[in-house]
Amino acid sequence: MTKQAAPSSKTRAMRELAELIRGRRTINLFLQTPVPRNLVRDAVEAATWAPNHYVTEPWRFYLLGPEAIGRCIDLVRDIVTAEKDAKAGAFKARNWAQKPGWLVVTCQRSEDDRRQREDYAACSAAVQNLMLYLWQAGVGSKWTTGDITRDARFEEIVGFDSDRETVVGLFWYGYPKLTPEQKRRDVGELLIERP
Ligand SMILES: Cc1cc2nc3c(=O)[nH]c(=O)nc-3n(C[C@H](O)[C@H](O)[C@H](O)COP(=O)(O)O)c2cc1C
Repeated sequence: MTKQAAPSSKTRAMRELAELIRGRRTINLFLQTPVPRNLVRDAVEAATWAPNHYVTEPWRFYLLGPEAIGRCIDLVRDIVTAEKDAKAGAFKARNWAQKPGWLVVTCQRSEDDRRQREDYAACSAAVQNLMLYLWQAGVGSKWTTGDITRDARFEEIVGFDSDRETVVGLFWYGYPKLTPEQKRRDVGELLIERP
């Protein structure tokens, strides 16, 4: 019989898992090395094992190809040009053209408020699964909810119906060029223990 680890002692697997979770960072700068499509497919498959109340499986994943990506870049140029000016629009478009992988995650809409909140929560859990799976393979990502994700033209490019689905985020992914640092508050400030 294998000896059970005492509850407080950390096994190597636990330490590695914590390191993976802690080490994942939002990536802004990516290398141009393409990420294998199968890896993304496996990450999406892993994502779908997130908890989801009533097993609604509310998530949908849209993997964009070069044509759709090009149209998103044109769209962000138009949005920023209209909001600011052509120079800012061109700058943004150049920046977005450096994002190697594009994945849009949506959540099925529900008439029921509580179901909608729970489904969004489930989608967030799925997204974390996805990002961690990719991170373990050396692939970073960035979750964005910028203006483009609320634009009707984006809906048309991605090809979903906003009456039925709401955008959880646009995710860029790729091998990190630079991994930023982050801090978190000490758990002692956040974990409130009650007798
Ligand atoms: C719902 C959601 C939306 C986000 N949208 C944006 C965004 O529009 N732009 C951005 O720069 N980061 C966005 N982020 C990423 C956060 O800024 C990032 O997670 C935070 O800075 C902590 O960094 P870390 O992911 O490296 O821990 C978003 C994160 C979440 C959870």
